[in-house]
Amino acid sequence: MVLLSVALALSGSLALFPGPSTTTTSVVVGAEVYNTFDGEGFPACNAVSHVYRPSTVDEMVELVKNASSQGIPVRASGNAHMWYDTMCSDDPETIIIKTDAVNRISDLQLNDGVGSVMIEAGATFPQVAQWLHERGAALGYTLVNWNITIAGAIAMGAHRSSLREDSQVSSAALAMDIINGQGELVHIEKDDSDTWLAATTSLGLLGVIARVKFAVLADYKVFSNQTTLSEDEVLDGDIFGMISPYVTANFWWWPGLKKFHLRTYGVVDIDSPGNAFQSTFSVTPFEGNTALTLLNSGQNLSAPNFISEGVFFGLWSAPNFHDKLTDFPLLTWPVTGFSYDVLIGGLYPNQLPEWDYDLHGKTLELAVPVTQGSALLKRVRELIDLAAADGKPVTSTYRSGINIKFGKPFDSFLGQTTERTTDGADWSQGALMFDFPSFVPTTGDHHRYNEEWCFPVRPHWTKNTRKVFQESLKNLDQDSLTRFAQVRKEFDPNGIFSSVVGEIIGVMN
Ligand SMILES: Cc1cc2nc3c(=O)[nH]c(=O)nc-3n(C[C@H](O)[C@H](O)[C@H](O)COP(=O)(O)OP(=O)(O)OC[C@H]3O[C@@H](n4cnc5c(N)ncnc54)[C@H](O)[C@@H]3O)c2cc1C
Ligand SMILES: *[C@@H]1O[C@H](CO)[C@@H](O)[C@H](O)[C@H]1NC(C)=O
Ligand SMILES: *[C@@H]1O[C@H](CO)[C@@H](O)[C@H](O)[C@H]1NC(C)=O
Ligand SMILES: *[C@@H]1O[C@H](CO)[C@@H](O)[C@H](O)[C@H]1NC(C)=O
Ligand SMILES: *[C@@H]1O[C@H](CO)[C@@H](O)[C@H](O)[C@H]1NC(C)=O
Repeated sequence: MVLLSVALALSGSLALFPGPSTTTTSVVVGAEVYNTFDGEGFPACNAVSHVYRPSTVDEMVELVKNASSQGIPVRASGNAHMWYDTMCSDDPETIIIKTDAVNRISDLQLNDGVGSVMIEAGATFPQVAQWLHERGAALGYTLVNWNITIAGAIAMGAHRSSLREDSQVSSAALAMDIINGQGELVHIEKDDSDTWLAATTSLGLLGVIARVKFAVLADYKVFSNQTTLSEDEVLDGDIFGMISPYVTANFWWWPGLKKFHLRTYGVVDIDSPGNAFQSTFSVTPFEGNTALTLLNSGQNLSAPNFISEGVFFGLWSAPNFHDKLTDFPLLTWPVTGFSYDVLIGGLYPNQLPEWDYDLHGKTLELAVPVTQGSALLKRVRELIDLAAADGKPVTSTYRSGINIKFGKPFDSFLGQTTERTTDGADWSQGALMFDFPSFVPTTGDHHRYNEEWCFPVRPHWTKNTRKVFQESLKNLDQDSLTRFAQVRKEFDPNGIFSSVVGEIIGVMN
């Protein structure tokens, strides 16, 4: 049994850095920072030489061919929904292929309620969902987040939250066209080969995912419901039993208040009334500016953070849904609407996302076996209590608390829910993902309230710092890493698609 000690930063805080949110949409030349969606001050790559924005798969092929012939490193990027500077390698010659304009959707096949669609690299969840809805189809339970690309989500092993349904995005991929390190378009299909096990969480290291054939369902409606639980009801409860009955369900933890929200979703008849539309990130100017002032004042003081948590908890107890047709807020649970609108939604009309008010976060996400979920949460509670006893009480200052998600087992070499492991842990019930947006202390030596603990944790590939990847390396399955590296070498012998993550986990050799 390989047990991993990961120092979890529990000193938690929401990092608040000023800076405009801008998106690079045209060609940038020269050594440039490539920022995340959070904008200036939030690099995804510390230095790149060019950002290209092609509009066809053929152009992407040509870009990779050219780069390959000159030994220039390449990274694809969708909408840069990254949290840290781990997208590229640290080579300033790196070019970015921004995929968002390569976004065609075609070939919908739907028979007896199931089928497939062909999507290009830059197509986002909302684009694909809307296109499908207009044609009586829908994505399944792999809807992760608003305005990110499906290919980017497949690359990083991103997932929704479900113990009942497959919810890792790559579980719905049926075939992929990948531009390899020589600039060749390689077609692969779902099977039980090492190639597919590598491609379903590739970290972009096999090449640019140019097209994906993706599974779809007939359009459907869902309800969303929410209830508040005490901390004891969850920590001492049957977590698997609370989550697994639903097509998707998750917890939000409010540690300062010792409460949890349990959010659940289920399918209802397509004729059910309701046009609920969810928004996780929409903020009015008043809300945005108030939150910023309050959280900023809590940079070195605990009280404002506890006040913020109380306010956020109150807001989050009501549905974060409007009626899509009237834009009126929905005031009571449950709410009902079309699948995409309820499972993800987007922005309310005339509102901006929170990061446009300089509300930024840093997070840490680790997966443990569901069988050890209660133990993990209890350990976190101990650490929080220890911090309080030290006179440095911890709370959550994110507007939706600490996000606790779940994943049914799905095998890929580098996925968070794979059962391909020799760590001796029981991953058969799936994984619990602990996603804690945490404070970055600005005082003293920037030391966080770290505590060592032992759990077989697996990192989310876009939600952790370099240090967390280094520490979690001990816990990744060696056979999977070796076999992943072999497939990687076949696709990209010269390692032009290298990234910081790939280097840290040792699959570039
Ligand atoms: C606010 C927020 C909430 C999130 N919520 C969740 C969540 O609930 N669950 C979850 O699992 N994740 C979540 N994520 C993480 C997100 O799903 C992943 O970071 C996803 O990869 C982002 O997609 P993107 O299109 O923005 O890709 P980018 O951020 O642009 O790229 C991500 C990585 O994938 C590579 N890549 C992108 N496109 C391609 C391609 N076509 N071919 C090969 N490699 C490619 C990039 O080089 C990079 O390494 C969240 C992120 C944010 C910022
Ligand atoms: C690839 O290189 C050729 C020759 O240098 C050049 O003409 C072409 O414009 C390049 N293509 C791209 C997409 O950069
Ligand atoms: C969503 O992503 C697109 C790029 O695909 C970008 O142009 C747009 O500004 C984003 N939307 C918002 C509201 O940030
Ligand atoms: C919603 O949750 C409440 C409280 O747990 C419960 O009583 C109700 O039956 C749920 N409704 C649905 C549709 O699940
Ligand atoms: C918190 O302390 C740091 C370091 O002393 C200081 O730079 C910062 O301005 C302080 N923040 C507030 C809101 O007082």
